Amino acid sequence: EKGNYRHFMQKEIYEQPEVVGHTLSGYLDPVAGEVRPREGIDFSAASRLLIVGCGTASYAGQIAEYWFEALAGLPVEVDIASEFRYRKPAFMPNDVALFISQSGETADTLEAMRMCKAAGLTTIVLVNSPLSTMAREADIVAPTMAGPEIGVASTKAFTCQLGSLAALAVLAGVQRGRIDAAEQASHVTRLMGIPGLMAQALRIEDQINHLAGELAQASIVLYLGRNEFFPMAMEGALKLKEISYIHAEGYAAGELKHGPIALIEDDVAVIVIAPYDELFTKTRSSIQEVRARGARVIAITDDLGAAALDGEASAIITLPRAEGLAAPLVAAVAVQLLAYYVAVHKGTDVDQPRNLAKSVTVE
Ligand code: F6R
Repeated sequence: EKGNYRHFMQKEIYEQPEVVGHTLSGYLDPVAGEVRPREGIDFSAASRLLIVGCGTASYAGQIAEYWFEALAGLPVEVDIASEFRYRKPAFMPNDVALFISQSGETADTLEAMRMCKAAGLTTIVLVNSPLSTMAREADIVAPTMAGPEIGVASTKAFTCQLGSLAALAVLAGVQRGRIDAAEQASHVTRLMGIPGLMAQALRIEDQINHLAGELAQASIVLYLGRNEFFPMAMEGALKLKEISYIHAEGYAAGELKHGPIALIEDDVAVIVIAPYDELFTKTRSSIQEVRARGARVIAITDDLGAAALDGEASAIITLPRAEGLAAPLVAAVAVQLLAYYVAVHKGTDVDQPRNLAKSVTVE
Protein backbone atom coordinates (compact mmCIF):
# COMPACT_ATOMS: atom_id res chain seq x y z
CA GLU A 1 0.00 0.00 0.00
CA LYS A 2 1.13 3.50 -0.87
CA GLY A 3 -0.13 5.10 2.36
CA ASN A 4 0.22 8.86 2.12
CA TYR A 5 2.54 8.70 -0.84
CA ARG A 6 1.51 9.50 -4.37
CA HIS A 7 3.55 6.72 -5.97
CA PHE A 8 5.28 3.54 -4.85
CA MET A 9 8.54 4.99 -6.13
CA GLN A 10 8.18 7.95 -3.78
CA LYS A 11 7.34 5.68 -0.87
CA GLU A 12 10.32 3.47 -1.66
CA ILE A 13 12.68 6.45 -1.84
CA TYR A 14 11.47 7.51 1.60
CA GLU A 15 11.82 4.03 3.05
CA GLN A 16 15.54 4.01 2.37
CA PRO A 17 16.92 5.13 5.73
CA GLU A 18 14.98 2.32 7.37
CA VAL A 19 15.69 -0.50 4.93
CA VAL A 20 19.33 0.44 4.38
CA GLY A 21 19.72 0.49 8.17
CA HIS A 22 18.07 -2.90 8.39
CA THR A 23 20.33 -4.29 5.67
CA LEU A 24 23.48 -2.85 7.26
CA SER A 25 22.65 -4.29 10.65
CA GLY A 26 22.74 -7.75 9.07
CA TYR A 27 26.31 -7.14 7.94
CA LEU A 28 27.76 -5.11 10.80
CA ASP A 29 28.36 -5.60 14.50
CA PRO A 30 28.53 -2.01 15.73
CA VAL A 31 29.32 -3.00 19.32
CA ALA A 32 32.41 -4.95 18.30
CA GLY A 33 33.18 -2.44 15.53
CA GLU A 34 33.37 -5.27 13.03
CA VAL A 35 31.83 -6.53 9.83
CA ARG A 36 30.21 -9.85 10.63
CA PRO A 37 31.93 -12.66 8.76
CA ARG A 38 29.54 -14.46 6.40
CA GLU A 39 29.69 -18.19 6.12
CA GLY A 40 31.61 -19.16 3.00
CA ILE A 41 32.65 -15.66 1.97
CA ASP A 42 36.44 -15.60 1.90
CA PHE A 43 38.22 -13.03 -0.19
CA SER A 44 41.64 -13.71 1.33
CA ALA A 45 42.94 -15.91 -1.46
CA ALA A 46 40.80 -14.53 -4.29
CA SER A 47 42.69 -13.70 -7.47
CA ARG A 48 39.87 -11.52 -8.69
CA LEU A 49 36.28 -10.58 -8.01
CA LEU A 50 33.91 -10.76 -10.95
CA ILE A 51 30.73 -8.73 -10.47
CA VAL A 52 27.80 -9.26 -12.83
CA GLY A 53 24.33 -7.72 -13.05
CA CYS A 54 21.98 -5.77 -15.31
CA GLY A 55 20.93 -2.13 -15.28
CA THR A 56 20.88 -0.53 -11.87
CA ALA A 57 22.36 -3.65 -10.27
CA SER A 58 25.37 -3.39 -12.59
CA TYR A 59 25.87 0.23 -11.53
CA ALA A 60 25.90 -0.86 -7.89
CA GLY A 61 28.61 -3.30 -8.94
CA GLN A 62 30.59 -0.58 -10.70
CA ILE A 63 30.50 1.60 -7.59
CA ALA A 64 31.68 -1.37 -5.53
CA GLU A 65 34.63 -1.86 -7.88
CA TYR A 66 36.15 1.37 -6.54
CA TRP A 67 35.64 0.13 -2.98
CA PHE A 68 37.02 -3.40 -3.34
CA GLU A 69 40.08 -2.22 -5.22
CA ALA A 70 40.87 0.68 -2.87
CA LEU A 71 40.11 -1.02 0.45
CA ALA A 72 41.10 -4.60 -0.25
CA GLY A 73 43.55 -4.42 -3.17
CA LEU A 74 41.29 -6.97 -4.83
CA PRO A 75 41.16 -6.68 -8.63
CA VAL A 76 37.56 -6.38 -9.79
CA GLU A 77 35.93 -6.81 -13.15
CA VAL A 78 32.34 -5.68 -13.55
CA ASP A 79 30.24 -6.87 -16.42
CA ILE A 80 26.75 -6.52 -17.75
CA ALA A 81 25.24 -10.01 -17.61
CA SER A 82 24.09 -10.07 -21.24
CA GLU A 83 27.65 -9.33 -22.41
CA PHE A 84 29.43 -11.50 -19.88
CA ARG A 85 27.53 -14.67 -20.67
CA TYR A 86 28.23 -14.53 -24.41
CA ARG A 87 31.80 -13.27 -24.49
CA LYS A 88 33.50 -16.45 -23.31
CA PRO A 89 35.20 -14.88 -20.30
CA ALA A 90 38.60 -16.18 -19.25
CA PHE A 91 38.56 -17.36 -15.64
CA MET A 92 41.41 -17.67 -13.16
CA PRO A 93 41.42 -20.52 -10.62
CA ASN A 94 40.72 -18.32 -7.60
CA ASP A 95 38.12 -16.02 -9.12
CA VAL A 96 35.10 -15.31 -6.94
CA ALA A 97 31.91 -14.37 -8.79
CA LEU A 98 29.34 -12.02 -7.28
CA PHE A 99 25.94 -11.56 -8.93
CA ILE A 100 23.68 -8.68 -8.04
CA SER A 101 19.92 -8.85 -8.55
CA GLN A 102 16.91 -7.37 -6.83
CA SER A 103 14.49 -9.97 -8.21
CA GLY A 104 16.86 -12.93 -8.38
CA GLU A 105 15.07 -13.87 -11.60
CA THR A 106 16.75 -11.77 -14.31
CA ALA A 107 17.41 -14.22 -17.14
CA ASP A 108 20.84 -12.99 -18.20
CA THR A 109 22.17 -12.68 -14.65
CA LEU A 110 20.86 -16.14 -13.76
CA GLU A 111 22.49 -17.71 -16.84
CA ALA A 112 25.77 -15.90 -16.14
CA MET A 113 25.67 -17.35 -12.63
CA ARG A 114 25.01 -20.87 -13.91
CA MET A 115 27.95 -20.48 -16.30
CA CYS A 116 30.31 -19.52 -13.47
CA LYS A 117 29.06 -22.32 -11.27
CA ALA A 118 29.66 -24.80 -14.07
CA ALA A 119 33.20 -23.40 -14.42
CA GLY A 120 33.80 -24.24 -10.75
CA LEU A 121 33.84 -20.70 -9.32
CA THR A 122 32.35 -19.84 -5.96
CA THR A 123 29.13 -17.96 -6.71
CA ILE A 124 27.70 -15.35 -4.35
CA VAL A 125 24.37 -13.68 -5.04
CA LEU A 126 23.47 -10.34 -3.55
CA VAL A 127 19.71 -10.62 -3.80
CA ASN A 128 16.60 -8.97 -2.46
CA SER A 129 14.11 -11.80 -3.06
CA PRO A 130 15.06 -14.62 -0.70
CA LEU A 131 12.88 -17.21 -2.45
CA SER A 132 14.12 -16.48 -5.97
CA THR A 133 15.82 -18.86 -8.39
CA MET A 134 19.19 -17.17 -7.96
CA ALA A 135 18.92 -17.37 -4.17
CA ARG A 136 18.26 -21.10 -4.47
CA GLU A 137 21.03 -21.82 -6.93
CA ALA A 138 23.95 -19.68 -5.70
CA ASP A 139 26.62 -21.19 -3.44
CA ILE A 140 26.27 -18.27 -1.03
CA VAL A 141 23.40 -15.83 -0.52
CA ALA A 142 24.15 -12.29 0.67
CA PRO A 143 20.77 -10.69 1.36
CA THR A 144 19.55 -7.14 0.91
CA MET A 145 16.60 -6.31 3.15
CA ALA A 146 14.84 -3.69 1.03
CA GLY A 147 11.49 -5.48 1.27
CA PRO A 148 9.26 -5.78 -1.81
CA GLU A 149 10.05 -3.13 -4.42
CA ILE A 150 6.94 -2.29 -6.44
CA GLY A 151 8.02 0.72 -8.51
CA VAL A 152 9.59 -0.47 -11.75
CA ALA A 153 12.49 1.95 -11.32
CA SER A 154 14.78 0.52 -8.68
CA THR A 155 15.54 2.80 -5.73
CA LYS A 156 15.67 1.19 -2.31
CA ALA A 157 17.00 -2.10 -3.69
CA PHE A 158 19.92 -0.16 -5.21
CA THR A 159 20.93 1.61 -2.01
CA CYS A 160 20.58 -1.61 -0.01
CA GLN A 161 22.89 -3.23 -2.56
CA LEU A 162 25.38 -0.41 -2.01
CA GLY A 163 25.19 -0.80 1.77
CA SER A 164 25.86 -4.54 1.56
CA LEU A 165 28.66 -4.07 -0.96
CA ALA A 166 30.34 -1.46 1.22
CA ALA A 167 30.30 -3.87 4.16
CA LEU A 168 31.65 -6.70 1.99
CA ALA A 169 34.44 -4.47 0.69
CA VAL A 170 35.49 -3.71 4.27
CA LEU A 171 35.32 -7.43 5.05
CA ALA A 172 37.54 -8.12 2.04
CA GLY A 173 40.01 -5.49 3.28
CA VAL A 174 40.12 -7.16 6.70
CA GLN A 175 40.47 -10.66 5.27
CA ARG A 176 43.28 -9.53 2.97
CA GLY A 177 45.18 -7.80 5.78
CA ARG A 178 44.70 -4.29 4.37
CA ILE A 179 42.42 -3.00 7.13
CA ASP A 180 43.41 -3.16 10.82
CA ALA A 181 41.02 -3.27 13.77
CA ALA A 182 40.94 0.50 14.30
CA GLU A 183 40.29 1.20 10.66
CA GLN A 184 37.59 -1.46 10.54
CA ALA A 185 35.86 0.12 13.52
CA SER A 186 35.91 3.54 11.89
CA HIS A 187 34.41 2.16 8.66
CA VAL A 188 31.69 0.45 10.69
CA THR A 189 30.89 3.70 12.50
CA ARG A 190 30.68 5.54 9.20
CA LEU A 191 28.45 2.87 7.67
CA MET A 192 26.14 2.94 10.67
CA GLY A 193 25.76 6.68 10.10
CA ILE A 194 24.37 6.21 6.60
CA PRO A 195 20.65 5.91 7.48
CA GLY A 196 20.80 9.20 9.41
CA LEU A 197 22.53 10.94 6.51
CA MET A 198 20.00 9.56 4.03
CA ALA A 199 17.17 10.82 6.21
CA GLN A 200 18.75 14.28 6.16
CA ALA A 201 19.27 14.03 2.41
CA LEU A 202 15.55 13.44 1.91
CA ARG A 203 14.95 16.97 3.15
CA ILE A 204 16.23 18.37 -0.17
CA GLU A 205 12.87 17.44 -1.65
CA ASP A 206 11.74 21.07 -1.86
CA GLN A 207 14.95 22.24 -3.56
CA ILE A 208 14.53 19.48 -6.11
CA ASN A 209 10.84 19.97 -6.73
CA HIS A 210 11.74 23.56 -7.49
CA LEU A 211 14.28 22.62 -10.17
CA ALA A 212 12.23 19.84 -11.72
CA GLY A 213 9.85 22.05 -13.70
CA GLU A 214 12.67 23.60 -15.65
CA LEU A 215 14.57 20.37 -16.05
CA ALA A 216 11.47 18.80 -17.55
CA GLN A 217 11.94 21.17 -20.53
CA ALA A 218 15.50 20.05 -21.31
CA SER A 219 16.08 18.22 -24.59
CA ILE A 220 19.01 16.23 -23.22
CA VAL A 221 20.30 15.79 -19.69
CA LEU A 222 23.92 14.79 -19.14
CA TYR A 223 25.13 13.50 -15.79
CA LEU A 224 28.80 13.81 -14.90
CA GLY A 225 30.85 12.43 -12.03
CA ARG A 226 34.24 11.02 -11.13
CA ASN A 227 35.22 7.87 -9.23
CA GLU A 228 32.15 6.27 -7.63
CA PHE A 229 30.11 9.18 -8.88
CA PHE A 230 30.73 8.12 -12.48
CA PRO A 231 28.56 4.98 -12.17
CA MET A 232 26.23 7.10 -10.02
CA ALA A 233 25.97 9.51 -12.98
CA MET A 234 24.93 6.57 -15.19
CA GLU A 235 22.39 5.47 -12.58
CA GLY A 236 20.98 9.00 -12.39
CA ALA A 237 20.65 9.12 -16.16
CA LEU A 238 19.01 5.69 -16.29
CA LYS A 239 16.47 6.70 -13.64
CA LEU A 240 15.61 9.91 -15.49
CA LYS A 241 15.21 8.28 -18.90
CA GLU A 242 13.15 5.41 -17.52
CA ILE A 243 10.47 7.48 -15.89
CA SER A 244 10.56 10.91 -17.58
CA TYR A 245 11.48 9.73 -21.12
CA ILE A 246 14.03 12.53 -21.43
CA HIS A 247 17.20 11.45 -23.20
CA ALA A 248 19.83 11.28 -20.49
CA GLU A 249 23.36 9.86 -20.37
CA GLY A 250 25.97 9.57 -17.66
CA TYR A 251 29.65 10.16 -18.37
CA ALA A 252 32.89 10.22 -16.47
CA ALA A 253 33.56 13.94 -16.02
CA GLY A 254 37.05 13.50 -17.45
CA GLU A 255 35.58 12.15 -20.69
CA LEU A 256 33.68 15.34 -21.41
CA LYS A 257 36.38 16.71 -23.71
CA HIS A 258 36.59 13.42 -25.58
CA GLY A 259 33.21 13.75 -27.21
CA PRO A 260 30.12 14.59 -25.17
CA ILE A 261 30.99 18.29 -24.92
CA ALA A 262 29.95 18.56 -28.58
CA LEU A 263 26.33 18.13 -27.43
CA ILE A 264 26.34 21.18 -25.19
CA GLU A 265 23.99 23.99 -26.17
CA ASP A 266 21.30 26.09 -24.55
CA ASP A 267 18.59 23.51 -24.01
CA VAL A 268 20.96 20.88 -22.61
CA ALA A 269 21.04 20.46 -18.85
CA VAL A 270 24.07 19.03 -17.09
CA ILE A 271 23.86 17.49 -13.64
CA VAL A 272 27.28 17.34 -12.03
CA ILE A 273 27.70 15.15 -8.97
CA ALA A 274 30.49 16.95 -7.16
CA PRO A 275 30.87 16.24 -3.46
CA TYR A 276 33.63 18.20 -1.77
CA ASP A 277 36.23 15.43 -1.90
CA GLU A 278 39.79 15.15 -3.24
CA LEU A 279 38.56 15.35 -6.85
CA PHE A 280 36.30 18.34 -6.32
CA THR A 281 38.51 20.84 -8.11
CA LYS A 282 38.70 18.59 -11.17
CA THR A 283 34.93 18.14 -11.29
CA ARG A 284 34.54 21.86 -10.77
CA SER A 285 36.47 22.57 -13.96
CA SER A 286 33.94 20.43 -15.85
CA ILE A 287 31.21 22.68 -14.44
CA GLN A 288 33.03 25.74 -15.74
CA GLU A 289 33.54 24.18 -19.17
CA VAL A 290 29.92 23.28 -19.79
CA ARG A 291 28.62 26.49 -18.26
CA ALA A 292 30.84 28.54 -20.57
CA ARG A 293 29.17 26.79 -23.51
CA GLY A 294 25.68 27.72 -22.48
CA ALA A 295 24.39 24.63 -20.68
CA ARG A 296 22.34 24.89 -17.54
CA VAL A 297 24.37 23.24 -14.79
CA ILE A 298 22.94 21.76 -11.62
CA ALA A 299 25.59 20.75 -9.10
CA ILE A 300 24.83 18.06 -6.55
CA THR A 301 27.24 18.76 -3.71
CA ASP A 302 27.47 19.54 0.01
CA ASP A 303 27.86 22.74 2.02
CA LEU A 304 31.61 23.04 1.39
CA GLY A 305 31.16 22.38 -2.31
CA ALA A 306 28.33 24.89 -2.47
CA ALA A 307 30.49 27.56 -0.84
CA ALA A 308 33.40 26.84 -3.19
CA LEU A 309 31.22 26.95 -6.31
CA ASP A 310 29.91 30.39 -5.44
CA GLY A 311 27.74 31.12 -8.47
CA GLU A 312 29.56 28.89 -10.96
CA ALA A 313 26.65 26.48 -11.28
CA SER A 314 23.17 27.59 -12.38
CA ALA A 315 21.69 25.82 -9.36
CA ILE A 316 22.99 23.81 -6.45
CA ILE A 317 21.49 20.89 -4.59
CA THR A 318 23.10 20.77 -1.15
CA LEU A 319 23.32 17.35 0.47
CA PRO A 320 24.57 16.62 3.98
CA ARG A 321 28.33 16.07 4.04
CA ALA A 322 29.13 12.38 3.74
CA GLU A 323 32.55 10.82 3.51
CA GLY A 324 34.04 7.66 2.10
CA LEU A 325 31.68 4.70 1.73
CA ALA A 326 28.68 6.76 2.80
CA ALA A 327 28.91 9.37 0.06
CA PRO A 328 27.38 7.44 -2.88
CA LEU A 329 24.35 6.37 -0.84
CA VAL A 330 23.63 9.97 0.02
CA ALA A 331 24.10 11.11 -3.59
CA ALA A 332 21.71 8.35 -4.70
CA VAL A 333 18.87 10.07 -2.86
CA ALA A 334 19.42 13.23 -4.90
CA VAL A 335 19.43 11.55 -8.31
CA GLN A 336 16.36 9.49 -7.41
CA LEU A 337 14.36 12.49 -6.21
CA LEU A 338 15.39 14.50 -9.24
CA ALA A 339 14.17 11.82 -11.65
CA TYR A 340 11.01 11.37 -9.63
CA TYR A 341 10.02 15.04 -9.58
CA VAL A 342 10.84 15.59 -13.24
CA ALA A 343 8.55 12.67 -14.09
CA VAL A 344 5.81 14.06 -11.82
CA HIS A 345 6.10 17.40 -13.64
CA LYS A 346 5.81 15.63 -16.97
CA GLY A 347 2.82 13.62 -15.74
CA THR A 348 4.22 10.23 -16.76
CA ASP A 349 3.26 6.91 -15.20
CA VAL A 350 6.03 6.85 -12.60
CA ASP A 351 5.45 3.37 -11.20
CA GLN A 352 4.74 1.66 -14.53
CA PRO A 353 6.85 3.39 -17.18
CA ARG A 354 6.12 2.45 -20.78
CA ASN A 355 7.85 -0.60 -22.26
CA LEU A 356 9.46 -1.68 -18.98
CA ALA A 357 8.83 -4.71 -16.79
CA LYS A 358 9.85 -5.06 -13.15
CA SER A 359 11.45 -8.41 -13.66
CA VAL A 360 13.14 -9.28 -16.96
CA THR A 361 12.88 -13.06 -17.11
CA VAL A 362 13.48 -13.30 -20.85
CA GLU A 363 16.68 -12.15 -22.49
C1 F6R B 1 16.33 0.28 -13.30
C2 F6R B 1 15.98 -1.11 -13.07
C3 F6R B 1 16.63 -2.18 -13.91
C4 F6R B 1 17.03 -3.36 -13.03
C5 F6R B 1 17.55 -4.51 -13.87
C6 F6R B 1 18.04 -5.67 -13.04
O1 F6R B 1 15.61 1.15 -12.51
O2 F6R B 1 15.18 -1.39 -12.22
O3 F6R B 1 17.74 -1.68 -14.60
O4 F6R B 1 17.98 -2.92 -12.11
O5 F6R B 1 16.54 -4.96 -14.74
O6 F6R B 1 17.01 -6.24 -12.28
P1 F6R B 1 17.33 -7.22 -11.08
O7 F6R B 1 18.08 -6.44 -10.07
O8 F6R B 1 16.00 -7.70 -10.60
O9 F6R B 1 18.19 -8.34 -11.63
